[in-house]
Amino acid sequence: MMGRALVALILCLPILMPGVVIASEDRLNNSASAGLFWSTAKEEADLYRKAKLDESALTLNENNELDGGFSSLDGMLQWAIGHSDPAKLKETAQDVHRLSTEELKKRQTELKELVEKLKTPSDAQLMQIAVGDLNNSSLSLDDHLSALEELLILVEPIDNANDLNKLGGLEVIVRQLDSVHPEIRKLSAWVIGKASQNNPLVQKQVLEYGTLTKLMSMVRSNIVEEAIKALYAVSALIRNNAEGQQIFYAAAGDLMLQEILSNSSFDIRLRRKSVFLVGDMAEHQLENPERPELPFFSSGLFLKSVVDLIAPGDLDLQEKALLAIKSLLNLKSTQGAVFKNFCNLDKALEVLRLQLQPLLEEVDQRDYASDLENIRQEVESIFHKKLDQTWQGMLVPT
Ligand SMILES: *[C@@H]1O[C@H](CO)[C@@H](O)[C@H](O)[C@H]1NC(C)=O
Ligand SMILES: *[C@@H]1O[C@H](CO)[C@@H](O)[C@H](O)[C@H]1NC(C)=O
Ligand SMILES: *[C@@H]1O[C@H](CO)[C@@H](O)[C@H](O)[C@H]1NC(C)=O
Ligand SMILES: *[C@@H]1O[C@H](CO)[C@@H](O)[C@H](O)[C@H]1NC(C)=O
Repeated sequence: MMGRALVALILCLPILMPGVVIASEDRLNNSASAGLFWSTAKEEADLYRKAKLDESALTLNENNELDGGFSSLDGMLQWAIGHSDPAKLKETAQDVHRLSTEELKKRQTELKELVEKLKTPSDAQLMQIAVGDLNNSSLSLDDHLSALEELLILVEPIDNANDLNKLGGLEVIVRQLDSVHPEIRKLSAWVIGKASQNNPLVQKQVLEYGTLTKLMSMVRSNIVEEAIKALYAVSALIRNNAEGQQIFYAAAGDLMLQEILSNSSFDIRLRRKSVFLVGDMAEHQLENPERPELPFFSSGLFLKSVVDLIAPGDLDLQEKALLAIKSLLNLKSTQGAVFKNFCNLDKALEVLRLQLQPLLEEVDQRDYASDLENIRQEVESIFHKKLDQTWQGMLVPT
């Protein structure tokens, strides 16, 4: 039957009763049934039972003389659907004779607006439903996956992401990182990353759940997609976040990155993301010079794992490595001599120059190669300046 329509209608009832029209907004807000109505995983039968329940309550109310003038649910349904012209309605429905056409029109408009509102539940309601489904262990794996996919979209706007913890959502999602299903773990990491992206509030909340180290261990997963999404979440959590970076360092995050960067058997996407993260951290360090520089930025082995990536291979990886090196060179704590003697940066830059030269002649590669060559020259120039400073520093007696 029309279970859903009935529930919608029952939610509309206050507006039909005099004196409670203004309360309709509150009713909408307080009404748990609004959530019920939209739940994807709830049984239609449940909705119908609920509707029936409210219907019997309605019969009692009827004796208290509803001034709105509907003696049957059917009449109200007609009203709620509200396609009819008020004048015509007045003519055919004798029960509404007490209302003027104006009043009738007004109420019809209000009702239409309310029905529209109920048809489009708020994002917070949708998140609540998805979180509830994810938290409901009697639902199927597919239901849980759908809930996570919905959350992935819902947490994108910053206001929604900010609401997630209030709804108890973060805790539920964080728990899913321990799921036995890789797909659930992957999606959960992805949602956490999305919600934390450029959002200091959510970053802080997630860090408080102690989730960063968990995600770091997931980066080492044999399942590539899981590792990639976990690294995405790790990046989102420590991006421009001093506290996140401290936890990352304490949990040997630098060694994790170094291992991925220096081992070509890791998935190329994971390696690209890793080197991008290095560059990003260095860049944010430069933007916040008052923050103490992370110790691993000055580690020779760490820097070498980045410099080695500009060797011929994947052009995208080479470009990201160049950009990271540019930022690393600009840091106070890195030393030109280490780049030169330990990382062999000058040789690496020369090899790259020779690799790019023929590409500059190829029509389909020219633009990209030329961009890369520009960055390469920039890096070379910063490198030489840094070396000059080092020599000068050595000459000046202290
Ligand atoms: C629902 O209630 C919250 C706070 O109680 C309020 O901020 C919000 O505006 C209300 N929403 C509607 C649609 O009334
Ligand atoms: C969990 O889902 C089942 C099946 O849809 C439902 O019957 C039950 O009420 C749900 N539990 C909660 C707490 O929502
Ligand atoms: C998740 O379910 C547990 C009971 O299984 C309940 O105590 C908790 O409040 C639920 N959390 C959310 C956010 O629905
Ligand atoms: C590189 O990684 C693979 C698997 O990811 C591992 O089996 C191998 O031992 C690593 N090689 C080195 C040199 O660490």
